[in-house]
Amino acid sequence: MSTAKPKVFIARPVPPEVEEYIAQHCTYSKWEGEKPLTSEQLRQHIADVEGLLTAGGRIDAELLDHAPHLKVVSTMSVGYNNFDLDAMKQRGIKGTNTPDVLNDTVADLIIALMLSVARRIPEMDKYVREGSWKRGDNESLFGLDIHHKTLGIIGMGSIGRAVARRGKFGFGMNILYHNRSHNEQAEQEFDAVYASMEELLGQSDFIVLMTPLTEETRHMIGETEFSRMKKTAIFINASRGQTVDEEALTRALQNKTIYGAGLDVFDKEPVDPGNPLLSLPNVVLLPHIGSATEKTRSDMAMRAAENMVSVLKGETPAGLIKELCD
Ligand code: 8YV
Repeated sequence: MSTAKPKVFIARPVPPEVEEYIAQHCTYSKWEGEKPLTSEQLRQHIADVEGLLTAGGRIDAELLDHAPHLKVVSTMSVGYNNFDLDAMKQRGIKGTNTPDVLNDTVADLIIALMLSVARRIPEMDKYVREGSWKRGDNESLFGLDIHHKTLGIIGMGSIGRAVARRGKFGFGMNILYHNRSHNEQAEQEFDAVYASMEELLGQSDFIVLMTPLTEETRHMIGETEFSRMKKTAIFINASRGQTVDEEALTRALQNKTIYGAGLDVFDKEPVDPGNPLLSLPNVVLLPHIGSATEKTRSDMAMRAAENMVSVLKGETPAGLIKELCD
């Protein structure tokens, strides 16, 4: 790193300690707007920077053409499907992400979604608040158990393993998983059993989708997959909305092909007011808050800042995106 500090742009709010850390190593400007900046506004702020710290938002050729000095884009997220990897590679721009620091926080939310759908918690909360609870409980209030049921995890990465750990040791669940390759750690630690997609869909009581969004995984769960699930199955998606055919999911919920679903991600975010999912009782909907705790978001921001500074120092940070390595 030459003596002059590299110039960077912070496109999303970060905690003060992260800004202080960046100030030690870089000269920086940051977005101060109330609302997230538009891609047009981002273009104006990156013309002379070497580093960009961000989360979400398309990083494509059109944007990168406005950043001739850019060396690294560091995202405060584990997912980087918003990166046009070819456009970045062509320009020799490195990319970094923040895996692992969010595993437990996202896994907690996934278990919360499983419990919320199975025990109908939002619906029951509303039932009490609106004064419908007139007499002792009755079958119409019954839900489904999660303890000792079969948990099927599609995508046994580090978050998948954190979910398996909670299912196995917290709820005595049997763990099935489907993945591109076997995951010995999960098999040893959680007696997780590798299953074909068909076996997993047919045998699981809870199906948790935890794959990154790639061309390979786009709409990997659709009509056929929902038709293979049990009528009592509960489907959870906290990966990316586009890994699921949302119209097929909506039909499966409307037709009670499955019991219910818990969703933290959607085809379009924020969800449109007219989205038919909003009116269905057998789905729990969350605004993409998988990693949204103060501690975890602060850890993600610090990790992303460290990744960016490390690349600008010519080092190889832990979060270097492998597809963009030389
Ligand atoms: C991020 C996420 O907060 O890490 C990810 O991939 O989806 C979330 O944790 C979100 O992507 C920020 O835009």
